[in-house]
Amino acid sequence: MPEYNFTQRMKHYFLVLATGVFLASCQNTASIEDHNTVADSTVVKDLHTQSNADRVSIKHLDLDIAVDFKKREIAGSATWTIANEKHTDSILLDTYDLTIDSVKVDGRTASFRLGSFVPHLGQVLAIPITNETEKLTIFYKTGRNARALQWLTPEQTLSKSHPFLYTQSESIYARSWIPAPDGPGIRFTYNARVSVPAHLMALMSASNPQQKNDSGIYHFEMDLPVPAYLLALAVGDLRFRAVDARTGVYAEPSMIDKAAHELADLGRMVTTAESLYGPYRWGRYDVLVLPPGFPIGGMENPRLTFATPTIIAGDRSLVNLIAHELAHSWSGNLVTNATWNDFWLNEGFTMYFERRISEAMNDKGYADMLWELGYQDLVAEVDRIGKDSKDTRLKLDLTGRDPDDGLTDIAYEKGAHFLKLIENNVGRQRFDSFLRHYFDEHAFKTMNTRDFLSYLDSHLIKGDKELAAKLRVNEWVYGTGIPSNVPRVDQDRFEKVDEQRGKFLKGTTPAELTTQGWTTHEWLHFLRGLPRPLPQEEMTRLDQAFHFTQSGNSEIADLWFVMSLAAHYEAAYPEMQTFLSEVGRRKFIEPLYEEMMKSGQQNMARELYRQYRPNYHPLAQMTLDEIVGYKEPDR
Ligand code: BES
Ligand code: ZN
Repeated sequence: MPEYNFTQRMKHYFLVLATGVFLASCQNTASIEDHNTVADSTVVKDLHTQSNADRVSIKHLDLDIAVDFKKREIAGSATWTIANEKHTDSILLDTYDLTIDSVKVDGRTASFRLGSFVPHLGQVLAIPITNETEKLTIFYKTGRNARALQWLTPEQTLSKSHPFLYTQSESIYARSWIPAPDGPGIRFTYNARVSVPAHLMALMSASNPQQKNDSGIYHFEMDLPVPAYLLALAVGDLRFRAVDARTGVYAEPSMIDKAAHELADLGRMVTTAESLYGPYRWGRYDVLVLPPGFPIGGMENPRLTFATPTIIAGDRSLVNLIAHELAHSWSGNLVTNATWNDFWLNEGFTMYFERRISEAMNDKGYADMLWELGYQDLVAEVDRIGKDSKDTRLKLDLTGRDPDDGLTDIAYEKGAHFLKLIENNVGRQRFDSFLRHYFDEHAFKTMNTRDFLSYLDSHLIKGDKELAAKLRVNEWVYGTGIPSNVPRVDQDRFEKVDEQRGKFLKGTTPAELTTQGWTTHEWLHFLRGLPRPLPQEEMTRLDQAFHFTQSGNSEIADLWFVMSLAAHYEAAYPEMQTFLSEVGRRKFIEPLYEEMMKSGQQNMARELYRQYRPNYHPLAQMTLDEIVGYKEPDR
């Protein structure tokens, strides 16, 4: 590709990626050919970043920021160490709702330009550089629409006495708190200095403190290269508790005992994972249990998984979520999806790996329950999306869309089932050794779907036509729906559940059912298989026998509340409301509002949502605004 001067290059980028507003101010409107040249070249491979990290090598980030709870703002500087080996005249970074105050290039104040706003992507920040440029410092602050940030008031925490902040950068939200080359294929190391109110502790996806200090200034180091979506920060009144020499738990003071009890097996979990796919390469592995507003179940931030407190069930029955986030230390953090279209390489692999860890730590019967519930999720998801929809392909096409659109059970469950199919056909031993090599050979690199398939070909299928015919790889990856060779697991434990459910539906009183020793997953299967709506008398009978409304288990409670809404079983509503007022986990609250909307309880949905919306993370708000039809009052 020929070299352009700064203005020309800007013009190209804005042409391809931005709206016409900026274009109008460009002098020579470029021709269609120009447009195609850029779009077809390898420059813009990941359509969800506007950065030009393929032209400039971006090595390291030094972050120096202060967290201001009063202003709800992060302000400071990001210094990028780069090498302009390809002699490019400008560097392009992603930003979203950031205010850029000034820029320095190698210590000297420099010019910069902020492109016009592109939906989903934000504004590209362009800074002219020379061939010798090594460091650029961007002085900036975050905006009110920072999609990665959730600012909690003290009332929204467990202790009710200190504010709290956490970030959620995946998939493209890091740019809303750091000006960064924000694509999963771009890796860098980072150091940070973070200043917070003196009584609070700061934690990052890096080396972490285990105690508060009086200055409120914390230093962090991540000396292994990571992509921007793995940048994370949490600030709050936090405590640390060691599990063993390498693992531990952080939580608010009133949660730390429960969290440590629930995660007592954390050390064994890491050694189990290592025994499957090789050494854990990140140093420590800690888990941060967040306040209940955290919008997702867990996030695999390197060295420090962020987790929802809704997995703290008291009986360790939901800790497979931690196995999942830990598994990402290999699938995702070590070998990373090249673009969000390849998301299944992160999540499908991780789901498979999670279940292997669960099997090794429990037994096959236990893992089989997880597989079967996952299969049910997959069937339901394909039903919802439509079996002929392109969005049911493993390889996605998210061009022009929010990568969040790809966040479905296709990547997770279709992906995991595809790997399970391969395992079943080549045998566990061969597949494990294949995966182990795959992680080793591609450690700290990115992977796209096509390259994975050719690796699979050359290292496992190796021209075995019979095997290829059994796998039908292309159908799985590029075809829609669920292929007919989808693997199914043994149903030993669930068959017993089906039997008891059958008896109940034929009139046996709940007290006479054989449910001793059932774990969370058996109960979930029991409830999922009941007709919806279930007649109110039967809801009442079940509730009296098994106390689902009062269940301390978030998975069971959530499903029961959805069933309660469908049945208009109002005895459960007060508890459901409390749940909705506290919990921000999208997977839980979305189905509840959805069920209200479709079961003639729209007014309740709107009223509850109006009340609780401030408790939800910006990303959860985005999804729920649509479901409930919420419009923000004029400000
Ligand atoms: N990396 C994901 C979370 C994610 C994906 C956030 C895409 C934003 C965009 C994380 O590992 C995950 O999958 N979490 C699941 C838990 C899991 C057990 C399926 C969740 O949060 O529910
Ligand atoms: Zn995941």
